[in-house]
Amino acid sequence: MAQTDRRKFLQSLTAGVAGLSLYPTFGANLTLNLKENNQQFINLKDDASEAFWEKVKNQFRFAAGVRYFNNASLGSSAIPIRKATNEFRDILDDFPSKYMWGGWTDEKEKTRLAVADYFSVDKEEIAITHNTTEGMNLIAKSFDFQKGDEVLISNHDHTSARIPWEVWQVEKGIKLTKVSVPNLPKSKEAIVDLYRKAITPKTKVISLCHIVNTNGMIFPIKEISEIAHKKGILVAVDGAQSAGMFNIDLHELGCDFYTASSHKWLFSPKGVGVFYARKESQKHLKPLIVCRGHKDTSIRRLENYNTRNLPEFLGLGASIDFLNSIGKQKIHDRSFELKNYFRSKLENNDKVRFKTPKSDDLSAAIQVVEVVGKDVRQVKKELFDTYGIDCRPMSGLYLNALRFSFAIYITKKDIDDLVAALHTIAS
Ligand SMILES: Cc1ncc(COP(=O)(O)O)c(C=O)c1O
Repeated sequence: MAQTDRRKFLQSLTAGVAGLSLYPTFGANLTLNLKENNQQFINLKDDASEAFWEKVKNQFRFAAGVRYFNNASLGSSAIPIRKATNEFRDILDDFPSKYMWGGWTDEKEKTRLAVADYFSVDKEEIAITHNTTEGMNLIAKSFDFQKGDEVLISNHDHTSARIPWEVWQVEKGIKLTKVSVPNLPKSKEAIVDLYRKAITPKTKVISLCHIVNTNGMIFPIKEISEIAHKKGILVAVDGAQSAGMFNIDLHELGCDFYTASSHKWLFSPKGVGVFYARKESQKHLKPLIVCRGHKDTSIRRLENYNTRNLPEFLGLGASIDFLNSIGKQKIHDRSFELKNYFRSKLENNDKVRFKTPKSDDLSAAIQVVEVVGKDVRQVKKELFDTYGIDCRPMSGLYLNALRFSFAIYITKKDIDDLVAALHTIAS
C-alpha cells in the first residue's frame, strides 16, 4: 500500500477514537496519555522525592490487596503502556490483513531505534526477539565448535542460560565449565579472579548473567569482557534482570551479546525481548528460524518469524517512552536507594540474614533474605496470606530465602510495610 493510501486507511480506522493519535501511534499517544492522566508527572522530571515516586506508582495497577515485590519474575506494564499496546492490537484486529501487509516498517524501526538509544548503541545492533530464553538459544546454537572447545557458564545461571549450551553444544563434545561463585563474594575482584582462573587456551565463549536471579548479585561484566577479549574469547550476557534496572551503555559494558526479556524491568508487554550483538560479533550468529527474508544480512535476520506479535513489539516502544519520561539514570539511582533503605531497616534484626552481598558493586534492586530458623515456603505463604506481599522463595544454592524486587513502583512506604511484616514473622 502506498504511504498516502496507508495513512488514509489508518485515518479511517482511527476516526472517532478519542485520544488516539495517528502516526506514529506509540510515542505521541503515550505522551498524550501521561499528560491526560497526570499533568504533574511530566513536570516532575527533575524531582526525585518520594512524592514523585508515588506518582510513578500511580501509573501502575495491581490486583486489590496485592503488594507486588516479585518484579524479577515478571514485571507489570504501566497503564499507559497497556493502553498503547491494546490500541495497536485493536487497530490490527479490526483489519487482520494489516498484521502482515500493513507496512509497519517505520513503526518497527522507531521501536528498534528507541531501544538502541536506551542502551546507547546503534540500531543495527538491536534485534527485537521474544525473550531471554530465545536470545540464549540463538547464541548457543550459532557456533560450530570443535570437540574439546570450552564454554564457561556459572553455578548461578538461570536454566534458560544453561540448557541451550547443554542441548546445542555438549553433544558435539565441547566442555562446559561451571564457574562456582559464592553467594557472598568479598568483592567484584574476587569474581573476576574466579573467571580469570577458569579460562583455558580452549575457552571460546564466556556465558554469564549480568544480575543473577538466584540472589540478585551483580557480575562484573566489563572487567570479565576485557580479560576475555584479550584472549579472543566471546562474551554472552543474560541481561534478563539488569535491562531497565540499570542505566546501561552496552558498548561500555563490553560484551559481544546481551539478551533480555523486556517484560521484567523494562515493563513492556509479555512476549517481547531485546537482543544486542556488537557489530563485529554479528558474523558469528545464525537465525534460529529461517523464512522469507533470511538472506537479509542485517541484524533483522535474527528476528524474522514471518507473522509475529506486532502489538507487543510496538508496545516495547511505548515502554521505552515511558521509562524515558522518568529518566534512566534516575531509575538506576532509585534501584540502589531502595536496596539501601531496605537493608538499613533490617540490619539490626539478628533473626534476619541477608543472602545477597551488600556493596553497591555487587547488588541493587533484588535482595534475598532468610528468616532464621523458618522454612522459606512457610514464610512466603505467611507473607502473602497475612499481608498480601508477593515475593519469590529461593531454595537452591543453600539460600532458603525470599527474593524481593524493588522496582520503580515500590515506594519507601511499601518497604516500611514489608519490613514491619518481616520483623513480626521473624520474632
Ligand atoms: C536471569 C534470568 N535469565 C533468563 C530468564 C528467562 O526469562 P524468559 O522466560 O523471559 O526468557 C529469567 C527469568 O526469570 C532470568 O531471571
